Amino acid sequence: MRRRTTIAACVTALLTTVSVGGQRARAPFVVPTWAFPTSPAPTPAPKPDSVVLHRVPHSSRTYTMKQVTNGFDIPDWFPNAHPVMPSSVQYGVAPNARACGYCHLPDGQGRPENGTLAGLPADYIIRQVAAFKNGTRLSANPVLSTNSMHTLAKWVADSDVVSAARFFEKLTLTRRNRVVEVTKVPITRIEVMLYAYGDKGTEPIDGRLIEVPELFARHELRDPGVPYITYVPVGSIARGRRIATRGPAGPATACLTCHGVDLLGKEAVPPIAGRAPSNILRQLINFRTGARHDSASVTMAPVVEKLTVSDMVALAAYVGSRAPNPLSRVTLR
Ligand code: HEC
Ligand code: HEC
Repeated sequence: MRRRTTIAACVTALLTTVSVGGQRARAPFVVPTWAFPTSPAPTPAPKPDSVVLHRVPHSSRTYTMKQVTNGFDIPDWFPNAHPVMPSSVQYGVAPNARACGYCHLPDGQGRPENGTLAGLPADYIIRQVAAFKNGTRLSANPVLSTNSMHTLAKWVADSDVVSAARFFEKLTLTRRNRVVEVTKVPITRIEVMLYAYGDKGTEPIDGRLIEVPELFARHELRDPGVPYITYVPVGSIARGRRIATRGPAGPATACLTCHGVDLLGKEAVPPIAGRAPSNILRQLINFRTGARHDSASVTMAPVVEKLTVSDMVALAAYVGSRAPNPLSRVTLR
């Protein structure tokens, strides 16, 4: 209830500012529901199969679906790709604190609907979990559940958050997504909190940003190697670059001034380059509506204040298409 009230209050505040704003009336900011894909999880949850062994490319391991969906002893397709996981990342604590690696994957590459933790500063990770716990980090669309993080944050021990944060901080984010500019996007369906390819055919992109795994089955197997494709309107990347480098409200708000020249983070400011564009977009919207309103997020408030949804799509396309780590700089576009 409290959560709904807070968001309703934010929306009202935005509308009020616009209507009494004086000089030039701007259209009120309306949260685009398509940026928060949600379909109900099937109830009762289907019983996962415990017989058929699955594989993913380049891994010699095999897991049944029952093992893949075990949040308290997670599948690890590529054990050599990361240091030994602390217990908080591999096992969690039953029955409420699932292992971080279940949703953010053992190498921290994450999934677009969860977020990439690889390479985020430990302090930032710890502060975000605290913000989920104390209700200062919500979702601008209450229908999209950040419940998993709220529930988890409530139950997880502080020492487990610290061990997980130190582990994820040391990992390197690799490039997994490809941003493609289109006028028409393949038809998609919604799988709980993510788009997946749907029926054959295309439809107008219509100003949206649609991120899909190349193969939904690999996403479901929690394969950290599955590529993602992000469809955005034609011209988005160049437009995003302009806004990011000049600043939406002048040079002081240029992304580079705080997030670093390559957007790879600077001191307490998190790296954003090469992260899932759909997630970047949602975070910009969350800052814009005040759904994210912990004390550090006030820094982002003036940055997003005047952005339209289309500006945010452009920024997410640009930021998400940047090299995610210094070694992959050659792939910069
Ligand atoms: C059941 C799934 C699930 C588990 C388990 C989980 N998370 Fe998350 N996590 C999410 C989702 C969903 C989000 C995205 C929420 C949002 O963007 O509003 C998220 C977001 C985050 C973020 C924000 C990332 C960013 O870029 O701002 C951090 C930090 C985080 N989780 C840390 C953790 C840690 C540490 C653990 C283990 C102690 C953990 N999570 C376990 C689902 C999970
Ligand atoms: C004045 C400094 C400043 C500027 C300019 C700035 N940021 Fe940020 N940004 C921050 C800080 C600080 C945070 C962390 C906020 C928090 O801890 O809640 C942040 C967080 C973010 C996040 C969330 C990352 C995550 O993993 O959750 C995104 C996305 C982001 N910024 C995008 C941008 C973009 C795009 C621009 C340019 C249009 C920009 N920022 C400009 C300071 C800045």
